[in-house]
Amino acid sequence: MNAEIITPTAELAQRIAATPRGARAARHLTLRQLAAWGFAEDGEVSAAAQQIVAELAANAVTHGRVSGRAFEMRLLLFPEGTLRIEVSDARGDRKLRYVTDPEGEGGRGLILVSLLARAWGVTERTVGKTVWAEIGTGRAVNGA
Ligand SMILES: Nc1ncnc2c1ncn2[C@@H]1O[C@H](COP(=O)(O)OP(=O)(O)O)[C@@H](O)[C@H]1O
Ligand SMILES: [Mg+2]
Repeated sequence: MNAEIITPTAELAQRIAATPRGARAARHLTLRQLAAWGFAEDGEVSAAAQQIVAELAANAVTHGRVSGRAFEMRLLLFPEGTLRIEVSDARGDRKLRYVTDPEGEGGRGLILVSLLARAWGVTERTVGKTVWAEIGTGRAVNGA
């Protein structure tokens, strides 16, 4: 195999209360962390990351919530120019529904994520699941 393990150059992992306030905190934390990594608060990367986090965190605290359990957000910055966002919740018995009916109620969150992200998906965990999305940072290191 020719696979190479690429390690992130920077990472944030935070457990956050599964409440509406927690979901807002996740978005704010994303804004602050990206600013610390040098992405302008009003820039495209920060705006896209914040929107994705807002949708995934909102889903984690509504559809993915298990009473008394926090959700976890991770932000991973990769040297080849990718920011990976991961939001993990404790609920394993509910699957995501990707709703494509534009007239339907709700279902806009994952559509927005799919439009903003260059890749996204769901990974099952021993307990619960991780919904992830990746965006380009326009910042490749080492000439990649
Ligand atoms: N973290 C999650 N856990 C369980 N189900 C989820 C989760 N995220 C999304 N879903 C399911 O996928 C559907 C679509 O999500 P979304 O596009 O964000 O729409 P909305 O949140 O407005 O219903 C949700 O209605 C829900 O059934
Ligand atoms: Mg939603």
